Amino acid sequence: MPERTPIIAGNWKMHRDHLEAIQLVQKLAYHLSEEDYEGQEVVVCPPFVALRSIQTLIQSDKLPLGLGAQNCHAEDEGAFTGEISAPMLARLDVAYVLCGHSERRALFGETDEVVNAKVRAVQRHGMRPILCVGETLEQREAGEATQVVVDQLRGSLEGVTIGEATQLVVAYEPVWAIGTGRNATPDDAQEMCAAIRGEIAEQYGQGTADGLRVQYGGSVKPGNIRELMGQPDVDGALVGGASLSSEDFALIVSHRRG
Ligand code: 13P
Repeated sequence: MPERTPIIAGNWKMHRDHLEAIQLVQKLAYHLSEEDYEGQEVVVCPPFVALRSIQTLIQSDKLPLGLGAQNCHAEDEGAFTGEISAPMLARLDVAYVLCGHSERRALFGETDEVVNAKVRAVQRHGMRPILCVGETLEQREAGEATQVVVDQLRGSLEGVTIGEATQLVVAYEPVWAIGTGRNATPDDAQEMCAAIRGEIAEQYGQGTADGLRVQYGGSVKPGNIRELMGQPDVDGALVGGASLSSEDFALIVSHRRG
């Protein structure tokens, strides 16, 4: 089975201006040692307006951090006032783009079709999508969690080739666990991440599925990261609130320390 390099990403959402962003990354770098980065990827996803500042900081200080964006438009350019395109992000050395975060699905009306177009735009420009999927509490209580996530994967990956699928990261983020302090149990996270891998195996074959990195997201904190990362199908975390504290995010990243 291929080795999967874990990936821990901080989704800052709509927090921190570009000056605060620089401070946050500088403090994070201060808290982390070389060993903390070894064998795993660490990514920060600040708001658009901070991307250039963080790109420059990462380059000048040679920080082993990846840069991610939280969204993009599906078209490369055009009359789309207020939008940011994938090629613009690629020019800023953005490596990852969140696609289909539940907040974008719920608050900005993004359908699987829209998410699919964004995934493809990101891949067209040599970046990697972090495709977010997850069920609501209502759907979970109705026993529909797995089906909802499978449907989101199918809809969002329409037309994505095997070669492109190998570049994909999927984040399982149950909506009821986001920002609520109520996280999925490690067993629930494992079950859903395994189901995601199973669906990717159906679509792209076992080899692609074995190489796929699946993150868990939803109230990840320093106190629960170890148990989550100990699950065989959990290959990383997508961290919201706790990524806004350099201390907490550093503790999450350095969870392997003795
Ligand atoms: P919280 O970690 O704040 O629950 O947010 C999770 C999330 O939405 C990350 O994308």
